[in-house]
Amino acid sequence: ETGALEFEDKPETLGAIGTAIEKCRKCPIGELHNQAVMGEGPRRASLMIVGEQPGDQEDQGGRPFIGPAGQLLDEYLTRTGIERSETYVTNAVKHFKYVQRGKRRIHQSPQAKEIDTCRWWLEAERDIVKPRLILALGASAARSLLGKTVSISKVRGEPIPLEGGTELWVTAHPSYLLRLDGEAQEKQAALFEADLAAVRERLAQQ
Ligand code: URA
Repeated sequence: ETGALEFEDKPETLGAIGTAIEKCRKCPIGELHNQAVMGEGPRRASLMIVGEQPGDQEDQGGRPFIGPAGQLLDEYLTRTGIERSETYVTNAVKHFKYVQRGKRRIHQSPQAKEIDTCRWWLEAERDIVKPRLILALGASAARSLLGKTVSISKVRGEPIPLEGGTELWVTAHPSYLLRLDGEAQEKQAALFEADLAAVRERLAQQ
C-alpha cells in the first residue's frame, strides 16, 4: 500500500506521535530548518480536518492553521457553525517545506512521494482519534487520505467512504481562495462554504 513504510511500531498516543515526528527524517523535508507541527484538538473528535503542511507561521508557532490560511479557515468554520475547538486539526505533511529567498521562506508544495511517506503519521493520528468524518483541504490532503491524486472539483460535495466507517469529504484549500480575486474568488468561496456546511449537516445527522 502507498506510504506503508518500515517504521518502528506506530506510536499509540498523540503525545508520542508529536515526539516522534520531530525526529522524523524519512523524507528530506525533515532536514530543513523547521519544527514538526503536530495536529491539535480533542483525542476523540468526530471531525478531523486535514491540511497540506505547516506554513511559515505554523512552523514558528508550532501549531496548525494559525497563519493567513488558518484565519480564513476559522472564519468559514464560524460561519458554518463548526466549532474548531471540537475538531482535530492536522496536516498531511508534518514539516514545513520551503525554499529560502533572502530572509523569506517560500512555501513549496510537497511531492507525492513525500505526502505518501508522511501518510504513516496521519494514519497513526486517525487510529487514535477515530473521527467519524474527515475533511481534506486541497489536493495534498486528498492524496494522503486516498492514496492517489484526485481532482477536487470532481470529488467535492459527496462523501467518500474510507475503511473503518470514516467518511471523507474533500474541498479546496483555503490558500487557494486567498490567491483568487473577483468573480473567481466569489465562486470558489461559495463552493468552500457549501462544502463546510454539508460537513456540518452530516455531523449533526448521525
Ligand atoms: N496550510 C496548511 O495546509 N496547513 C497549515 O497548518 C497551515 C497552512
